[in-house]
Amino acid sequence: HKVVFPVAGLGTRFLPATKVVAKEMLPVLDKPLIQYAVDEAVDAGADTLIFVTNRYKHAIADYFDKAYELESKLQEKGKDELLALVQGTLPKHVRAIFVTQPEALGLGHAVLCAKPVVGDEPFGVVLPDDLIWNGAIGSGKGALRQMAELADAQQAGVIAVEEVPHDQTDKYGIVDAAPIDERSALIRYMVEKPKPADAPSNLAVVGRYVLPGRIFQLLEQTTPGAGGEIQLTDAIDALLKEQGKVLAYRFEGIRFDCGNKAGLVRATMHMA
Ligand code: UTP
Repeated sequence: HKVVFPVAGLGTRFLPATKVVAKEMLPVLDKPLIQYAVDEAVDAGADTLIFVTNRYKHAIADYFDKAYELESKLQEKGKDELLALVQGTLPKHVRAIFVTQPEALGLGHAVLCAKPVVGDEPFGVVLPDDLIWNGAIGSGKGALRQMAELADAQQAGVIAVEEVPHDQTDKYGIVDAAPIDERSALIRYMVEKPKPADAPSNLAVVGRYVLPGRIFQLLEQTTPGAGGEIQLTDAIDALLKEQGKVLAYRFEGIRFDCGNKAGLVRATMHMA
């Protein structure tokens, strides 16, 4: 029911655009990246969306808020389709909560900032940079819904993985996992950005997670790792050691890495 969107990064790869515009507000055709992420979370059954932002990202809150002037103008002019688009950014039964990450201390730290809102229950994490498209939402199941169903059936944490070219393992967290079926596998261990020669597989962790509330205590005990940042991967590794069961899941759908320019262009072409 709860999904966390860590969106407090600096988005340096899109400077100067991201000097004032949050990376998550960059459009893929006619919708900002964050809308695709929210649609996927709602499709998975989320009713509480927690955005971990920073002080420069007011646009995200504004985008999901009511736009009184615009809405009344569209209503006056009878532009009902446009009005529905403007009002439809967030379904009525879904609430958005904004939490600040005071300093960009890493993805793990950003997730930890959501602890007071999430509490003890299992929750989802969606990195909007990874746009995962499985047909139009409503036709194919979104990646997060596929993962939530598996997490529920197996009572375990689930991490999305994707096969990447062998020469790119040093850009990702890589898992070593024992296959359970065509799409899921039991993780043995994870390594952060291994050189191709050292990588145990080419299964890379991408931006979707379903995690138990226990991860927050493990994050609190995690010391800063690579780059002085608190890494989510380190806490998941601790969870693995403690519970012995975290699943890797090869989702159905196409992933676009919109954290870089080529990925954003590819996603835009695909949607067009
Ligand atoms: P990235 O590694 O893509 O960093 O973060 P970034 O700042 O967004 O972009 P670049 O690399 O400078 O261009 C992965 C995800 O983790 C979030 C980001 O917002 C993004 O969704 N994040 C990262 C935080 O929320 N807080 C952090 O301290 C770090």
